Amino acid sequence: MRHFLRDDDLTPDEQRSVLELAVRLKENRFGVHPFAGPRSVAVVFDKPTLRTQLSFTLGVVELGGYPMVVDGNLAQIGVRESIADTARVLGRQAAAIVWRTFDQRRIDEMAAYAGVPVVNALTDQFHPCQVLADLLTVAERHGGVDALPGLTLGYLGDGANNMAASYLLGGATAGMHVRIGTPAARPPDPVVVATAQRIAARTGGSVVVTDDPAAAVAGADVVATDTWVSMGDERSAAEAEAMFGPYRLDADRLAGAAEHAIVLHCLPAYRGKEITDEVIEGPQSVVFDEAENRLHAQKAVLTWLMEQR
Ligand code: CP
Repeated sequence: MRHFLRDDDLTPDEQRSVLELAVRLKENRFGVHPFAGPRSVAVVFDKPTLRTQLSFTLGVVELGGYPMVVDGNLAQIGVRESIADTARVLGRQAAAIVWRTFDQRRIDEMAAYAGVPVVNALTDQFHPCQVLADLLTVAERHGGVDALPGLTLGYLGDGANNMAASYLLGGATAGMHVRIGTPAARPPDPVVVATAQRIAARTGGSVVVTDDPAAAVAGADVVATDTWVSMGDERSAAEAEAMFGPYRLDADRLAGAAEHAIVLHCLPAYRGKEITDEVIEGPQSVVFDEAENRLHAQKAVLTWLMEQR
């Protein structure tokens, strides 16, 4: 039984296979039906969402299944009922479970008891489905899946958030050079950095954490950013501006990247905060390709997980 709980749950070869499958599923959108029956997939949200609910709901339908969307506010997993009991109830009726929740330990416990594949649709610590979609987007713009190794991704913003962690692990798995530009007060989890460094040593990638935003994006093939205030953060707008203002992705900052650089943002975006209107609407921005690619990447990972059973 395999799960996709964090980016490094896929080996480099497995990640390449999933991305290649995503490319094929994008070309032939309705040709693969691992959930034919229809079998149900439980899609559970403890936090707000637009893209993730849309893409998993449509994705499961396109894979021949029935998406059983569960409102976490009603289910109150871990409050009304233990995670272990909930996992066994869901696992008796669903072929797979997709969960957006809080601490990573919650989804680890779900996976331990479910008896079916579990997919992380965002936790406080990781957002691996987003980074899989981001890698698919990079591959489309920079020469294909085989061309990912050796590319440089510069991330600007909160180094302690889930996107930074997933870029570190997912990017290193792809053999990319990942640079995290973040204030010294907001470093990524050192355990995640060490894990990414170990992966990068095998894949030919590398990992840099710097408080110099110009160094993070210098010559980069891909420039990424994310909200300064993640779901659940209590930082005020003024505090966020004071801390992350120098890391804003504006036209001057982007000019330091490679001329062919593409711009990623997982959305929702706060224009004028982490990214300017000019950049997100500019010719280098691929944020809506990235949003669409959630669908194709997640269909690929669900299909791949069902093949591993
Ligand atoms: N990027 C992303 O996960 O979007 P939602 O929060 O809208 O699902």
